[in-house]
This record gives sequence, C-alpha cells and structure tokens, in this order.
Amino acid sequence: MKYKTIIEPFRVKMVESIRMTTEKEREKFLKEAKHNLFLVKAEDVIIDLLTDSGTAAMSSKQWAGIMIGDESYAGAKSWKKMEATIKDLTGYRHVLPTHQGRAAERILYGCIGGKGKTFISNTHFDTTRANIEFSNAEAIDCPTEIGKKPSVKHPFKGNMNVSKLISTIKERGQENVAGVILTVTNNSGGGQPVSMKNAKKVSEICKKHNIPLIIDACRIAENAYFIKQREKAYKNNTYKEIAQKMFALADGCTMSAKKDGIVNMGGFLALNNDKLTEQCKNELIITEGFITYGGISGRDMEAIAVGLEEVFDPDYLQYRIASTTYLGERLDQMGIPIMLPVGGHAVYIDAKSLYSHIPVDQYPGQSLACNLYLKGGIRSSEIGSVMFGKKGKNQELIPAPMELVRLAIPRRVYTQSHIDYVIEVFEQIKKEKKKAKGIKIVKEPKYLRHFTSHFKFV
Ligand code: F0G
Repeated sequence: MKYKTIIEPFRVKMVESIRMTTEKEREKFLKEAKHNLFLVKAEDVIIDLLTDSGTAAMSSKQWAGIMIGDESYAGAKSWKKMEATIKDLTGYRHVLPTHQGRAAERILYGCIGGKGKTFISNTHFDTTRANIEFSNAEAIDCPTEIGKKPSVKHPFKGNMNVSKLISTIKERGQENVAGVILTVTNNSGGGQPVSMKNAKKVSEICKKHNIPLIIDACRIAENAYFIKQREKAYKNNTYKEIAQKMFALADGCTMSAKKDGIVNMGGFLALNNDKLTEQCKNELIITEGFITYGGISGRDMEAIAVGLEEVFDPDYLQYRIASTTYLGERLDQMGIPIMLPVGGHAVYIDAKSLYSHIPVDQYPGQSLACNLYLKGGIRSSEIGSVMFGKKGKNQELIPAPMELVRLAIPRRVYTQSHIDYVIEVFEQIKKEKKKAKGIKIVKEPKYLRHFTSHFKFV
C-alpha cells in the first residue's frame, strides 16, 4: 500500500522552544521595531519564514561531524572531506572554500568583472548583482516572459530567455560578456526551477561565443527534484546525477551552502580554469583565509560534506518540496493569490493582488508582512517596492515589477502543524483584507533600505 501522507522523514532529537506571544504584545514589538521585520527580535517571532538561508536544522550525522572537525590551519582532514564531496558532485577541478555564497561571488566577479564587462543571468540574486556592480561591471537579467506572470503555471518558470540572451550577447559584443550565470532554482524569480533542456541550450550558446557559464548552485538539489518530476528524459536518473549533469554543462559554480548544503554557515567557489583559479586563490587568501579553509572552521566543513550528501536523499527531497507545496496549495485553494506553480524553498504571495486597494506607493507587500506578524507572529519578507523600488527625478517611486511577500521555509525545522497554523493565520488575513492599511516609509538609508528603514501604517 502506498500512503498519500508524506511525513517528515526524521525524528526530533533536540528541541528549541518557541515563545508564544499575544497580538497585543506583538503590536508593541512591531512598533518598537518601526514596522520593519528585520528589526524584530527573533525570540519575539513564533514562525520565522524570513529566509531558508542558514536556518536549517542539522542532522545527528552533521553534529557528529562537528565533534571530529579538524581545525588545522593547512591541509585539514575536514577540508579534504569537503573538497572531495564537492569535486565528486560538481566534477570541477578546483574548489575554494568561502564563509558564505556572497564571498565566492565577490572573489569570482571581482576577478572576471570590471568596467566595460557584462554579465547575463536568468535573474541575478541581489548579492550577485551587487558584487558584479561593485566591480563596475553590468548585470542584465533575462528571465523567460512567463516567469514574470505570477498566476500562469509552467513547469520551468526559472528558465533563461534564450533569444534575449543571444540578442544581448550580440548587442554588447561577445568579448565584453564576462560570464553567463544560471541561478538554480531562480530565487528572485519565485524559487522556480530551470530545466536541463534550457541549461543545455544556454551552455551551447556560451560555448559558441566563448563565454564562461557559471551556476549559482544554492538550491541545485531542489532544482534537480523538479527536473526528475517534470522533465521526462531524467525520470530514471538520481537527483545527484541530475545535479552532476547540470554542473557538467558549466565552467564553474558559486554556492551558498546555507541553503542546499543544510548548514548554518559556509559556501564555496568551484572552477575548471587553472589560471582563473590561481587569481581567485590570491583573493581568497587576502580576504577569506588560507586555501584549505577559506572562511570556514573545520567542524563546519565536516557538516557541509555531510549536508551535501543528505540533501540528495530522495525521502528528504520529496518531503522538502511536498511541505512547500502543501502550504502553497492550501493558500491557493483559500483564494490567496500566490506565485504558481509553488517553487522549491518558498511560497510567494502576490500582495498587490491580495491588497488591491493599497496603491504600490503604499507598499502592499510591507503591509502584508506586518499584518502576518501582528495576526500570527509569522515573520516573512517583502520582495517588492521596498526592496527593489527605485526613485524617479522628483523622488517619486518607480515600483518593482511585482509586490511579493516571501514565506521561505527553513529546512527540517518546522512540522506540518506549524504550517497548518500559518494557513489558519492566512484565513484571518483574508477575512480582514479590506481593512488592511498602506504603509509609508518614515526613515530610510541610502542603500538596501529594506534592512533598516522605519515604517508606519498610514
Ligand atoms: N545566490 C542566491 C540564489 C541566494 O538566494 C543567495 C542568498 C545568495 C546567492 C548569497 O548567499 O547569503 O550565503 O551570501 N539568499 C538568501 C535568501 C540571503 O534569503 O534568499 P549568502
């Protein structure tokens, strides 16, 4: 008998208590935090869906690895283990350890970027874009058209727009395109997967034009899950084999192990090119640490080696995607507008459509994020005009293309009853949606304003 209930494929061995709070208390906390959820104390949050990055629960095997971590400065056993695991997974000749994903990005794009250079991606994650722009290069997003429409279902909405990629290469001149980056899954585009067919096409184009292809591999195991389920040619491959095939199409990767490495800190850069690796190693030593630890302690390298194996376990991946889908489908059935189909690591709410009475210059996404906290102690993040809005000549808002709120699911942390609670809170949100008020910004910094701005309900 095959049962339909997909259970968490683990038992809980250690617990961390959650302090329950009342709506009245949360009103006070939110006011103190100036209506910015990044400024709320974590202990005042009931369900924390701010990010899936570095928030995972490690397994007993990972914790066992922590105890045998080799903290030698050079040539540590733990490094050798992490290096071997990554070489086996990616097939790349060189691995450089970094303290997290953005450090790998800064080293790589610092070396191959610079003034006059262009990078093209299905969508650059914000740290990737920032590191490219910091090198004075330009970052261009070429997502598929369908990926920009929240309610239209398609199996691979994370794909690169291939014809736009070709025309952009032509326009900029292939000698000026320093790299093409495939972000799998496409985080900023709604956690949507990239198909192998699309990756192959992108790889062919890069080879033809002699442009390096880099994979942003943060969530490559989750992407492999979708390929196995949705792309017939790969249904008999293991998840790891699918990831290996994707790595084989590219020249290197950056990875934040805080996602599919199932650890709280760590990352790496992996490359085939010997000369470029030498250049990156110099940068690594100056800014992260020696080449056999980068910015990571030996014990954490042990945990990464184990996490990168565990993440491809079919039971784990099935549970992982099923739990995200469970939340998304219930919200969809309830009539909450979400990005469809549900992605891998998060459910994205279309706040512009839910709060259609709130104009975009009153930030419907920020309003929803505040209300989720007030009503249920749930912390989410606005991915809309607070995060990506720009200012026009007269200081007017040039809004982001979408007003989304992301509910990112930490790995192996919450159980189904936590998720059922989130669903119940949304029932209340739906009942009270007409009463929801807009938000205004009362204080903002020059850069990355979502982290520190102060807000108020209007
Ligand atoms: N690339 C992608 C696709 C990411 O989602 C992230 C981080 C990074 C690179 C940078 O990695 O944080 O280890 O330096 N995303 C987190 C998030 C912050 O909440 O989505 P990092």
